Amino acid sequence: MTDKAKDNTASNSMWGGRFAAGPDAIMEAINASIGYDQRLYPQDIRGSRAHAAMLAAQGIISSSDAETIREGLLTVLSEIEAGDFPFKTALEDIHMNVEARLKEIIGEPAGRLHTARSRNDQVATDFRLWVRDQCDAAIKGLETLIGALLTQAEAGADWVMPGFTHLQTAQPVTWGHHMMAYVEMFARDLGRFRDARKRMNESPLGAAALAGTGFDIDRHATAEALGFDRPMANSLDAVSDRDFALEFLSAGSICAVHMSRLAEELVIWSSAQFRFVAMSDKWSTGSSIMPQKRNPDAAELIRAKIGRMLGATVALFTVMKGLPLAYSKDMQEDKEQVFDAADNLMLALAAMSGMIADLSVNRAQLEAAASNGFSTATDLADWLVREAGLPFRDAHHVTGTLVAMAEARGCDLPDLDLADMQSVNAAITEDIYTVLGVHNSVASRMSYGGTAPAQVRAQIKRWQEALS
Ligand code: ARG
Repeated sequence: MTDKAKDNTASNSMWGGRFAAGPDAIMEAINASIGYDQRLYPQDIRGSRAHAAMLAAQGIISSSDAETIREGLLTVLSEIEAGDFPFKTALEDIHMNVEARLKEIIGEPAGRLHTARSRNDQVATDFRLWVRDQCDAAIKGLETLIGALLTQAEAGADWVMPGFTHLQTAQPVTWGHHMMAYVEMFARDLGRFRDARKRMNESPLGAAALAGTGFDIDRHATAEALGFDRPMANSLDAVSDRDFALEFLSAGSICAVHMSRLAEELVIWSSAQFRFVAMSDKWSTGSSIMPQKRNPDAAELIRAKIGRMLGATVALFTVMKGLPLAYSKDMQEDKEQVFDAADNLMLALAAMSGMIADLSVNRAQLEAAASNGFSTATDLADWLVREAGLPFRDAHHVTGTLVAMAEARGCDLPDLDLADMQSVNAAITEDIYTVLGVHNSVASRMSYGGTAPAQVRAQIKRWQEALS
């Protein structure tokens, strides 16, 4: 037994009736969650206020006790907000810290607050409210990011750049089209957070420890007071599932993957080899030894954030796996990494929005790069199909021969003269040159969802309307 535990013979005032002695200091350390769950205080106090008001409305406690509790909880709230609340590890978690302090402030009525309630439905309610707020924050963060991408897309709807597969120049695309690809991804992320929010918006409060309560409570009233759509329909489920947090983490992980890919593109594009974009000073750092350096640290960190997000996701899946119904203390391990994941997700969204908004795009460099690497070879093959009636496979072969010819001469396809082209296939005419420029190439890709500026502008307009 440690010294502290030897001294500590006082049992817990919240549940110590059957205990003669207090816990070992190590037990206290492993059991306590107050170090991190104190950030649930606004949700905890809000939930307690709704619960007390409902108990009074149902005649379970007196309205004067309810009023005393309400005022006492507001005092606790202001103490915590002022930073002078005495958080105690011995009181384990935010719920018991708040209630114990309430008792110091208002005395006996504090003991009536926990009527028809357990920490099990209390923590499930608090955590749901917290995760719901984070969904709202993620939705707002994504709306801002999408707005920044739409602004970039609109400015560069017809700027030509190389499109890549295997990071090899493939076909010319437009800057606007590339930005809009991310708009689509982040809009799906937005949808995932909205869906998750809708599904999680049911109240566990009143499920009590696991079986409901014999008191004549009104769960619909507390659900409404807390902004939930309805009470959860099964008390065992209400106290024992954390799928709402898993959904938040899953949506966050997918979003972090999307951000990581965009971040990687920013890292590549801002390199001296690419020079497609220049990151604003606001989002770059220098090197202490190499004066020429401008490092895209924010982008690199966003690229890495997925590690934490996914780590938190795997951790919570693993905690929940195999737990029998209903509550087990394992579930106290649900919060810490969700907090960390949410903090980092919001930070990454904000940094990404800022980087995109402040990005300067080197339009001339994009266009020069788009013209390199035989990027209009497919257009040439398509022309042979369309104008000369060749089967696509034959057109592909003819084009390949022309690319090899250009490569051997160190020139691009439009630099080959007509006679040379005709030596490979006699059906080629002067008209071929109209499809070989990169602008012709992108303008021709008018299929729905294609890279033609007219298509891109239509998509920009659709999203601007959908999001306004
Ligand atoms: N701190 C606990 C948690 O986060 C609160 C619930 C405790 N419930 C219990 N039956 N011990 O899970």
